[in-house]
Amino acid sequence: MRTRILQPGDGVAEAVSLLAEGLPVALPTETVYGLAADALSPGACACVFEAKERPLSDPLIVHIPSLDWLSRIAAPSPLALALAERFWPGPLTLVLPRQALVPDIVTAGQDTVAIRMSAHPVFAEVLQAFGRPVAAPSANRFGRISPTCAAHVASELDGRIAMILDGGPCTHGIESTIVHVLPNRLQILRPGPITEDDLRAFAPAFHGPSGIAAPGGLKSHYAPRTKLVIERSPKPKGARNGLLSWSHTGEGFLQAEFLSCSGDLREAAANLYGAMRRLDEAGLDLIIAEALPEYGIGAAIMERLRKAAA
Ligand code: TXA
Ligand code: MG
Repeated sequence: MRTRILQPGDGVAEAVSLLAEGLPVALPTETVYGLAADALSPGACACVFEAKERPLSDPLIVHIPSLDWLSRIAAPSPLALALAERFWPGPLTLVLPRQALVPDIVTAGQDTVAIRMSAHPVFAEVLQAFGRPVAAPSANRFGRISPTCAAHVASELDGRIAMILDGGPCTHGIESTIVHVLPNRLQILRPGPITEDDLRAFAPAFHGPSGIAAPGGLKSHYAPRTKLVIERSPKPKGARNGLLSWSHTGEGFLQAEFLSCSGDLREAAANLYGAMRRLDEAGLDLIIAEALPEYGIGAAIMERLRKAAA
């Protein structure tokens, strides 16, 4: 199969017609690129698992075109509704009790469903025109680094999908925050652009494993092929070491990637996966990642680095 990269405009109509045929297409979101398919079609969702080589035990996030779909897909509590109203469209995924309309392949047979509404204008345009929700995991092969531009998607899935809609680089650059909404508490399953402080304004929040066997909850995930370690004060250990830098000058390293020259954690998040990919492609024998401060979105960046190092 030839994978075409199309621009918004013609690309939107083409993406909608492929979705309607039950085929997956890669679409930009504000977090990372997603591999989207009709969420209400088990066959279309099966193609997503196949293209990614993703185990069927790992459920997908349902992305809805508008808020009125929320209660058709899930059973939102007042707390869930308040979060959706505050943070959607945006980088927050809610795990809620599911409705029967959602196919089992999407939820991996769980009684909950993960759901979000993306703020990316191109993604929103496709969903408005398609008129149905799409299931969309990150558009990488299973266990690999999430794509933050169309070229990353091509390097992951070329020849496996019909098209990539090029919406430019992703603003946030790391995946959405995932929250399991409990009766009076919020369980953070994956840290992300919506921070713990943002959530605490609504209910007490705590971190905890989802209980799903194979998700981004796995210890090793987001993995480069090159060995990666995290250090507070990085020092090269050999001639072919690369540096993923937060504040280090890069001196002594064969190659260095700088996450943010102005010390901005949001900029660092947006640059993270592209920088990891460039280091991974440089033929190094070790990548040393400098530890970042763990406040705000820094906590989410460090979680990704720990998984890359595992
Ligand atoms: O930013 C994002 O969330 C991106 C964009 C494309 O929307 N999507 C994304 O999807 O990161 P994915 O599949 O790569 O990661 C979703 C995570 C997986 O670790 C999955 O196990 C978990 O969400 N998940 C999905 N449904 C769940 C559920 N019902 N309960 C707990 N975790 C769930
Ligand atoms: Mg993923």
